[in-house]
Formats: sequence, structure tokens, C-alpha cells
Amino acid sequence: MSRIAYVNGQYVPHDQAVVHVEDRGYQFADGVYEVCAILNGRLLDEDPHLDRLARSLRELRIATPMARGPFRVIMRQMVTKNRIRNGLLYIQVTRGVARRDHPFPAEGTRPALVMTAKAMDFGKIIDRASSGIAVITQTDQRWARRDIKSIALLPNILAKQQAREAGAFEAWLVDGNGHVTEGSSTNAWIVTRDGVIVTRALGPDILPGITRLMLLEVIRDLGLKLEERSFTVAEAKDAREAFITSSTAFALPVVQIDGHPVGNGEPGLAAQDLIRAYWKKVMAETGVTRTHLPNIPA
Ligand SMILES: Cc1ncc(COP(=O)(O)O)c(C=O)c1O
Repeated sequence: MSRIAYVNGQYVPHDQAVVHVEDRGYQFADGVYEVCAILNGRLLDEDPHLDRLARSLRELRIATPMARGPFRVIMRQMVTKNRIRNGLLYIQVTRGVARRDHPFPAEGTRPALVMTAKAMDFGKIIDRASSGIAVITQTDQRWARRDIKSIALLPNILAKQQAREAGAFEAWLVDGNGHVTEGSSTNAWIVTRDGVIVTRALGPDILPGITRLMLLEVIRDLGLKLEERSFTVAEAKDAREAFITSSTAFALPVVQIDGHPVGNGEPGLAAQDLIRAYWKKVMAETGVTRTHLPNIPA
């Protein structure tokens, strides 16, 4: 079955989906995006993703392409038209098409909206929950407004590529004070030797991850000790456990930082408990079961 994309009001075959060369996303990376997981044909955490998209647009003074009702209809149509059971929905909004010039285009220039969807075999990524992943650390070279989910991702791309070339799954980015901000496309967490779960507080330095938000709910429900604060690379290397969260990787234990084993070098017990509790929540929200995805941690 051929894939369908949504481009500025039309559903078109994916291989024919194009945007104008003067789309400001193409010219200036003047746009924002969202990635939502689809599980069992349902969008995971749709509302928080739409809230974050609205915030990103507001912060950059890009007009909202349409009201939330019709927006949701297109999101659902993308899942249905592409017949996706498990996969990812990508949403991008740019400031629109205008003759190339740095200032905002004339009043009335319509924002451009594109959505694509792809099926994913999440089995492979979920399987990593049992083996854990390696991360490397790198200087955070991004701009000062990382809370906005901007499509300008060069530093993230370079960091991820360096991680892959080093045989690691993710790069943890480090600020000028030696503190980990987040991963190149994930949020970063540790569990201290005293059993406190730590992740950086929200602010301009990190993306307010939706998976992070959901995991915070799980942590609160379980009554676990949590601190939203910065931690150094040294503290992370000395931590009992570490893990990452994102909409595409869900929650995965980190077993190595810069080649140094975290804890005993195996996925930690607290992280595994959290990941199980997180999946329970995801199963309740989407109706996905272990029959669909047998390797959901049990
Ligand atoms: C820089 C960065 N941090 C964190 C995340 C995780 O956010 P979410 O859980 O909303 O996918 C992402 C996701 O793409 C990201 O790009």
C-alpha cells in the first residue's frame, strides 16, 4: 500500500509530496514540529503533543494553521489512510511560503502544514529495554531556546551521528557547567545511589518531553523520590542507574556512559520497574497489548 502525506490542505501520495522552494522551513528552518507515537492505531498522548505544538508556535509567533478540532481530524486521517497500527506521525508547521528575506513575511502569509506517517516495528526498540543502551557525552552546541521544538536540528544531528560512530545509541549533551542538559533526541535521567530519580528541571535548556511528562506521572503515582534538578556527567557516571525517554524510544535504561558502566553495567531495577509501569499506562491509554507487541516489558 502506498503512503499518503498531508501537504497544505491535500492528501497526496508520499512520493509526490513536495513543498515550495521558498517555504521558510526549507530556507531558514523557520518552523516547528511534533512526533507522536501511534500504538494500536491510536495516537499516544495526543493532547500534550498538541499543547506543546501550540506553545512552540506561540513562542515563535507563527500563526496556528487551524483550530484543534480539524487538526485532530487530519491526524486521525493520516493514521487511517496509511493504515498504521504501530508507527510515528510527524507534524511540521512553518511560517509559510514567501520571497526569501529574514523578517517575518507580510501579514496574511499562511503557515505551511505538513504531516507524514510511517509504520514502525517497535519490537526492536522495545527489546533494548532488556539490554540497555550506551551513551556518549558531548558539548551542547544548541541555541538558548531548546524548549521550543524547532526544526533547526543541526547540532542534534551532529551529536547523534557522533554517538552512532562511537557505537552508542545516544549523545548526552553537556552545558558549560558540566551538567547534562538532555540527549540529542531524548530526555536524560539518573537514579542516585540513594534511590532518588533525577532529571533536569524544565526551562529554556531542554525540550519539555512528553514522555518525560508521562513518566513524572508514573513516578508520582508510585510515590517514588524525585528531584527535578541538573546533574553533572560525573554524578551520572557514579549513579546507580540511568535511563532516557522519548516518543520514539519510549523509556530505555542506560548501561554505559562514555564507555564507563553505569551501576553494574546492567539495566537497573528502578529503571526497569519504571519502564514496566510506564508501559502499563501506555497499554491502558492505547489498548496496545503484548499480543500486538510481545516484547513490551512485563
Ligand atoms: C532534544 C529532545 N529532547 C527530548 C525529546 C523527547 O521528547 P518527547 O518525549 O516529547 O519525544 C526529544 C524528542 O524528539 C528531543 O528532540
